[in-house]
Amino acid sequence: MARCETQVGIVGAGPAGLMLSHLLRLRGISSIVLEVRSRAHCEERVRAGVLEHTSVEMLHEAGVGDRLDREGLRHEGIEIGVDGIRHRIPFMELTGKCVTVYGQQEVVRDLIARQLADGGDLRFECGDVSLHDIDGERPWIRAEKDGAVDEVRCDYIAGCDGFHGISRSSIPEGALRVYERIYPFAWLGILAEAAPSRDELLYMRHERGFALYSMRSPRITRLYLQCRPNEDIDQWSDDRIWGELHARLTCSDGWRPTEGRILQKGVTSMRSLVVEPLQHGRLFLAGDAAHIVPPTGAKGLNLAFADVHHLAEALHAFYQRNEGGLLKAYSQTCLRRIWSAQRFSWWMTSLLHRFEDEPAFDHKRQLAELAYVTSSRAAATCLAENYVGLPLGGAQT
Ligand code: APR
Ligand code: PHB
Repeated sequence: MARCETQVGIVGAGPAGLMLSHLLRLRGISSIVLEVRSRAHCEERVRAGVLEHTSVEMLHEAGVGDRLDREGLRHEGIEIGVDGIRHRIPFMELTGKCVTVYGQQEVVRDLIARQLADGGDLRFECGDVSLHDIDGERPWIRAEKDGAVDEVRCDYIAGCDGFHGISRSSIPEGALRVYERIYPFAWLGILAEAAPSRDELLYMRHERGFALYSMRSPRITRLYLQCRPNEDIDQWSDDRIWGELHARLTCSDGWRPTEGRILQKGVTSMRSLVVEPLQHGRLFLAGDAAHIVPPTGAKGLNLAFADVHHLAEALHAFYQRNEGGLLKAYSQTCLRRIWSAQRFSWWMTSLLHRFEDEPAFDHKRQLAELAYVTSSRAAATCLAENYVGLPLGGAQT
């Protein structure tokens, strides 16, 4: 058995865990990151790809923004389509801010490379990770690694192990309240080897169901289709996928997505979830371990970054000035922004999807809402300021 000590034990090497570890190192605080999957798996997992301007700033300030600057695609607006007619929401004009399209796995790659270059303690392929004494003065993490058992003793544990991790469930039942909404549809997503033929993302509301035209690079398009929650991906041949994408995304001016070889396909479920509080004893939850948003608002990664920003600041205040106030307020501080993003993600989802069996009234109300958002500067500004990202403190600050 190998016993070691660090100030903060971090579970999970997704964007939350990696960014936290890096922010802590910049503040002179030690950490060890324990990850269940391999480095290759973490770096190749295809997820969302829109960075709010605050996330871009955070990457820059942390000194990991060079490749993002070179390869990230700056988007000054999005398009909302309603049954084939496109309407542009000009973020820059309405808010003075924009977003950057840069795949989450690229962010993960940059953070891992930096971590290893800085000599960080990052352990992949850990088995059977468990948390102990989270209520006590000296919590510890147990993990199996290369046939041996590691015991990591720390002052604090950061649970950054995503929705399916063990951190949230290590908190005694009854100490957390779960707020959840599950949507009656999912997204079928593909990555295609096709040069994007539009400059901006197109969110299309269509009678056949929602579709999203997105991209990753000047060579790669990312596209999504609303599908049934339990959709069997094997029932979707490449031809069927392109047929449905054309049916939903073809516009009245004749534009339609360019086809290309499908490199990857999968189904993503849609839910909204928040647990409160984000802290129990010396365990702090961050990112998807504490909250899930439906992908329509492109908020998942950005929320994870906001959480770890607050956690790093709070730990810094504690270690440098012996001030525990920010740590105590961590949950409350994060929850303001989390609920702002939850509201927006739910709203975007409700605005753009087909809800089967919905009352005719709701159908008409949805169309009226779309007409309002695409014709009123005030309504478009409301969408834009939420999409580019509210201040780190949330809507109230
Ligand atoms: N022990 C160690 N690591 C674990 C465990 C475990 N028991 N369970 C899960 N993990 C790892 C996962 O393998 C993953 O690498 O924790 C990491 C969690 O990463 P993410 O799921 O990416 O979560 P997070 O870092 O919070 O990032 C949020 O992910 O789902 C997207 O849209 C979401 O972009 C957002 C981002
Ligand atoms: C993506 O490119 O993967 C993407 C973009 C916007 C979203 C969700 C996903 O709202």
